[in-house]
Amino acid sequence: MHRFWWLLCALHHVIWAAIMLISIEAMPPEPPVRCDKNGCNLYNSYGVWGDRKECRVQNVTYPTTEEELRLAVAYANQNKLKVKVVSQFSHTIPKLACPATSSGNSMLISTAKYSSSIEIDAKNLAVTVDAGIGLRRLIDAVEEAGLSLVAAPYWEGVSVGGLVSTGAHGSSWWGKGGAVHDHIVGLSLIVPAKQSEGFAKIIKLEPKDQIFNAAKVSLGLLGVISKVKLSLEPRFKRSIAYNFTDDAQIENIYMDHAKKYEFADITWYPSKHTSAYRYDNRVPLNASGDGTYDFLGFQSNSILISKSIRATEKTMDNGRSLGGKCTMAASFLGVKKLVANGLKNGLIFTGYPVTGSQGKMQTSGSCLYSTAADNSCAWDPRINGLFFYETTAIFPASKFGDFIRDVKKLRDLKPENFCGVDIYNGFLIRFIRASEAYLGQPEDSVVVDFNYFRADDALTPRFNQDVWEEVEQLAFFKYGAKPHWAKNRNLAFLDVQKKYPNFNKFVAVKRQLDPQNLFSSEWSDEVVFGKEGVKSDGCALEGQCICSEDRHCSPGKGYFCKPGLVYKEARVCRYSSSSPSPFSVGSGSDKNDL
Ligand SMILES: Cc1cc2nc3c(=O)[nH]c(=O)nc-3n(C[C@H](O)[C@H](O)[C@H](O)COP(=O)(O)OP(=O)(O)OC[C@H]3O[C@@H](n4cnc5c(N)ncnc54)[C@H](O)[C@@H]3O)c2cc1C
Ligand SMILES: *[C@@H]1O[C@H](CO)[C@@H](O)[C@H](O)[C@H]1NC(C)=O
Ligand SMILES: *[C@@H]1O[C@H](CO)[C@@H](O)[C@H](O)[C@H]1NC(C)=O
Ligand SMILES: *[C@@H]1O[C@H](CO)[C@@H](O)[C@H](O)[C@H]1NC(C)=O
Repeated sequence: MHRFWWLLCALHHVIWAAIMLISIEAMPPEPPVRCDKNGCNLYNSYGVWGDRKECRVQNVTYPTTEEELRLAVAYANQNKLKVKVVSQFSHTIPKLACPATSSGNSMLISTAKYSSSIEIDAKNLAVTVDAGIGLRRLIDAVEEAGLSLVAAPYWEGVSVGGLVSTGAHGSSWWGKGGAVHDHIVGLSLIVPAKQSEGFAKIIKLEPKDQIFNAAKVSLGLLGVISKVKLSLEPRFKRSIAYNFTDDAQIENIYMDHAKKYEFADITWYPSKHTSAYRYDNRVPLNASGDGTYDFLGFQSNSILISKSIRATEKTMDNGRSLGGKCTMAASFLGVKKLVANGLKNGLIFTGYPVTGSQGKMQTSGSCLYSTAADNSCAWDPRINGLFFYETTAIFPASKFGDFIRDVKKLRDLKPENFCGVDIYNGFLIRFIRASEAYLGQPEDSVVVDFNYFRADDALTPRFNQDVWEEVEQLAFFKYGAKPHWAKNRNLAFLDVQKKYPNFNKFVAVKRQLDPQNLFSSEWSDEVVFGKEGVKSDGCALEGQCICSEDRHCSPGKGYFCKPGLVYKEARVCRYSSSSPSPFSVGSGSDKNDL
């Protein structure tokens, strides 16, 4: 008995020590640029780029002032180096920030240390910040001055320069709308210049300038953004309630919903026939309530729990266990309902509505600061936790209803196929307004985001991948949705330039400001010009291509290139237990076709 007890204690110590070992490196996310004796590498926050190749650069520089930023651009220009900016966060999924070249002539400018200045102009309701400043610091500073930033992404682990560069947004069809770049009223850009001008110069842009519309969403292609000036409003509060209800009407009421509530959004859980409507409007500052929105998906998770969820999900995917996935989705949805997605009246959620100040209700990311030793963001690449794809498609508002109708048709063939997406956050539906930005949305738009399981190994097919591929192709090709610049797999960018009526105007400004293409690289070209590359074996598995032959899937593992079930023009990798016969959908021989 005693001996057994002692053994238990020892075991406890071993487990505890193991937890400590994991956590010592696990607390805040790792810096995205990491160097070893052979040079430096850039990673994104998920630890891997779409192509899974590294991004190796020769020189990384950390300017602290605008003049040092200018000198860094001058150095790149003088030495004919490919150059890109990256923030302290590097939360963008496509490989936009990578300047690497095979010849090795590349450098990175990090804005991680360029983050000292926040100048608030209360009289004119504006704030000007260094582009490296994190979103949370900006929000806290303006709120303290009695003001509010109206639009911001839901995730706060981003820099101001990075978020405006990629068109990041929250959700609103009111006022200037949910995209942050539509609230910019001034911007300074550092661009290459002639030798007589010192090889680089700072240009200050205002809304009246013709290149302002190119610079608002510039994907880092025009130069380095040093300062961003954003418009503000007097501080206000919001009152939020979720209505978890059936999903029958989404396609008929999404527009009314967006018109009725200033910060409306909708989360759709297709496998559960459930949608959660967010009723979210401003209330006066003296309304009672000091709530917060600490979005559940961005809360810190116990590392052991994140790892075990991942392990379970992996086992179920390998075992093709839809039942298991559906149980998991149901229990996660139950938790979300119970805790109102992370809304808190005080320390916890006690009931709707939750009222709190704008600064605490729009944007969150508490996992970034987790102090508990064994916690981290669920996707931290060091813990083998969640690993997923994120597809984000932006639709002209009027086309979105038909997209939902098609997805519902696909869902109705076999609702269990959609449990995988409901394990994550279902389909998050948000709203942004028409923008003047050349690479922004030309009309009022609806944005849909969904996350889904990604295999650890690029050549491992995922059981339900045909479903996500079909939804992806419905969005981007049947309905002409545009990919969010900071998310998505490569195929979403195919022909993207044709979808932007002002794309050529953007290219003309790029030629004017960066005639030697220093701020472009083969990696950003792949995204921005959306060309289909050489199709290699297995390329469709990771969204590097759309399959046209079985070898683009994984015939050896039973995944063949087949037409979509609802969108027949789609080409997807589908599991089939019977012998390969491409494009044989409808033969009925294939019990896993649906
Ligand atoms: C968990 C998570 C949640 C997210 N939620 C949302 C959301 O709710 N809404 C939304 O719209 N997006 C969302 N995103 C996407 C996110 O907003 C973008 O990825 C954002 O661009 C990241 O900012 P960053 O500072 O990490 O930029 P980086 O990834 O460092 O850079 C992004 C791009 O901007 C360029 N760049 C960065 N700084 C500068 C500069 N100073 N001058 C010129 N170019 C620059 C880089 O070269 C690169 O091309 C989310 C991402 C994650 C990982
Ligand atoms: C890196 O770039 C900086 C300019 O930002 C330059 O001063 C420095 O010499 C470069 N270092 C190397 C090793 O090239
Ligand atoms: C929730 O939404 C449904 C469907 O639109 C509606 O019938 C119901 O009244 C709503 N509930 C609340 C509390 O608003
Ligand atoms: C809030 O202030 C307004 C005047 O600015 C007043 O009419 C209203 O009664 C106040 N409400 C509360 C809840 O104190």
